Amino acid sequence: PSSFHKDVILKDDAPSQLLLSKHREFILGYAKNQSSYEYVMSEWLRASGVYWCLTALKLLNNSDLKEDDLFEFVMSCYNEEKGGFGASENHDPHLLYTLSAVQILAMIDRLDSVDRDKVVKFVVNLQQTDGSFWGDEWGEVDTRFTFCAFATLVILDRLHECDVETGVQFVLQCKNFDGAFGCVPGSESHAGQVFCCVGALSIANKLHLLDIDQLAWWLCERQLPSGGLNGRPEKLPDVCYSWWVLSALKIIGRTHWLDKPSLIKFILASQDEETGGFADRPGDMVDPFHTLFGLAGLSLLGDQHLAKVNPVLCLPQSLVDDLGLKLETLS
Ligand code: FPP
Ligand code: ZN
Repeated sequence: PSSFHKDVILKDDAPSQLLLSKHREFILGYAKNQSSYEYVMSEWLRASGVYWCLTALKLLNNSDLKEDDLFEFVMSCYNEEKGGFGASENHDPHLLYTLSAVQILAMIDRLDSVDRDKVVKFVVNLQQTDGSFWGDEWGEVDTRFTFCAFATLVILDRLHECDVETGVQFVLQCKNFDGAFGCVPGSESHAGQVFCCVGALSIANKLHLLDIDQLAWWLCERQLPSGGLNGRPEKLPDVCYSWWVLSALKIIGRTHWLDKPSLIKFILASQDEETGGFADRPGDMVDPFHTLFGLAGLSLLGDQHLAKVNPVLCLPQSLVDDLGLKLETLS
């Protein structure tokens, strides 16, 4: 019964239209010139922050960011010696930021400006004998890093330089009795981790190894009476989960198990009419992370004002097509 759920109540006067030009202004405000990245985006997630902003603008069909500046920024995050990318200049390279950097390079059509062999080697060397990936040389293991490794390699057209089979075996070990996935074997199911595991299996062409109905049921149970989705039982709804949950359902062909109109209503209600941008839930502070995933969610839900997004790589579908990448999805 709905009274048992933690949830939010949408106000009658909450935004109900997509505020396209406001969102362009909001994102461009972050990225007006190179130095504003420095001021606004905390240093330790800057490469991912730039990926969120650039992808959001692409989904808004905007190309106002200067590609030369973006290229210069990405290359300032590159560690020549190790072959990976850090969050910003002089930060240790990590798989999270290496994926963001490669996604940015793909969007500005500069993949050929990096030494693919070196980047591939950085990624492949982080794989362990059990198939898992370390995020960096410090040895943290997480299914997020498996996704980052597979996605980076597939964008570079070099997936098979890692051990895909044992990588897949590790992902399957992180599956729980509820049909969903955690960060490591035995850890709690979490929708962000489900996205990573389903995405990794799609890249590996192994979606048939999933129990689709059980997983889809767990994902649909994330929808609350407000229409929003949470990431785990007993948590509040959050706009970013309209990406983590919805994209996983899209990949396994089960988005029709959700109440789409009420999810759209929740996402639109999380916009800020004054500043543009989306917050995690109605009334909170907006940020580029929730703005990207609000837009990407609406794109997956078929909003005609937005460019189509690829559910696995969270990049414009037109780019994924241009790169010749065919990622498995079920219907
Ligand atoms: C929840 O994070 C989300 C995740 C655990 C998934 C993160 C996925 C990646 C880093 C892979 C790259 C993603 C894309 C789209 C290319 P959280 O820390 O906000 O969780 P919480 O809601 O429990 O705090
Ligand atoms: Zn969130």
